[in-house]
Amino acid sequence: MARTHRFCVAPMMEWTDRHCRLFHRQLTRRARLYTEMLGTGAVIHGDRTRLLAFDPAEHPLALQLGGADPRALTEAARIGADLGYDEINLNVGCPSERVRDGRFGACLMEEPALVGDCVAAMKAAVAVPVTVKCRLGVDEQDPEAALDAMAEAVEAAGVDALIVHARKAWLDGLSPKENREVPPLDYARVYRLKAARPRLTVVVNGGIATLAAAAAHLRRVDGAMLGRAAYREPWRLLAVDPLLFGAPAPAPSPRAALELLMPYVERELARGIRLHAVTRHVLGLFNGMPGARAFRRHLATYATKPGAGGEVIADALAFLPADFPAFTVAAA
Ligand SMILES: Cc1cc2nc3c(=O)[nH]c(=O)nc-3n(C[C@H](O)[C@H](O)[C@H](O)COP(=O)(O)O)c2cc1C
Repeated sequence: MARTHRFCVAPMMEWTDRHCRLFHRQLTRRARLYTEMLGTGAVIHGDRTRLLAFDPAEHPLALQLGGADPRALTEAARIGADLGYDEINLNVGCPSERVRDGRFGACLMEEPALVGDCVAAMKAAVAVPVTVKCRLGVDEQDPEAALDAMAEAVEAAGVDALIVHARKAWLDGLSPKENREVPPLDYARVYRLKAARPRLTVVVNGGIATLAAAAAHLRRVDGAMLGRAAYREPWRLLAVDPLLFGAPAPAPSPRAALELLMPYVERELARGIRLHAVTRHVLGLFNGMPGARAFRRHLATYATKPGAGGEVIADALAFLPADFPAFTVAAA
């Protein structure tokens, strides 16, 4: 189990949609990808084709659920497993007001027994792994006791992995964005959790900026999950397969990875999808490299125009110098 979670791209609302995931797949075959969080109500009653459809190339792919009712979670998990998702993940880390009003997300850190019940119910219903993504604690909770109680409850319920965003969340006074930046990171707390529970698969998340940093975490825990760095500088993902799995990268360079995406882009355009829906996830592909700004500006400006097609991508690529420096795994 542990090796399956060695490297994960975090669930991110509005960001990790199916286009984003398919793009990330051109950069790494081995990373585990996560959907945006979907509430149980949306999964059970919503438009499943729109909300839950994915491309077979996206595997291994986890569906992240938001909810706190074991029965609704069971039904939503079953729907996800039947659709072919490889994992069902429960969100115990989102601090947004909407989520808090629904009494799920990060506020569940205060109800470990209920989270355990949710995990046990989902485990009984589906054959795929059931995992939890949580925080160190919320508000005035002591992170030692809060994380231990959560780990105890979910491990007893048979959880397949616990992903820990290594900071607390403040439910009063901080926005979701501030809650990803202001509470201090404490990786040592996550390392202590793994040391105390060697049989539990533990994945660390939060503030990991490079692949080298991810690799260093793997000396202490089973997996590393990257969110913003993976999204904003997706070129780093090209190092995942060689560096962390000893496997060849799907493409030799960021440009080659984008070329691999082209058949998908053409297919989606033919289905009536706007170019920008796909290319908005690609904007950072060359960040930090020569020509990156012009590439980004061209794509951001022209991909939004009605009728924009694949030629916009070709034109944007023309801003990159012909003697573009070779991609190196070490740089990621
Ligand atoms: C735009 C955005 C949306 C997010 N949406 C979710 C979400 O739906 N579910 C979740 O568990 N975490 C969500 N997160 C938190 C990330 O999964 C991750 O825990 C957090 O960004 C810390 O990791 P990072 O420092 O590598 O970005 C979101 C983060 C961002 C930036």
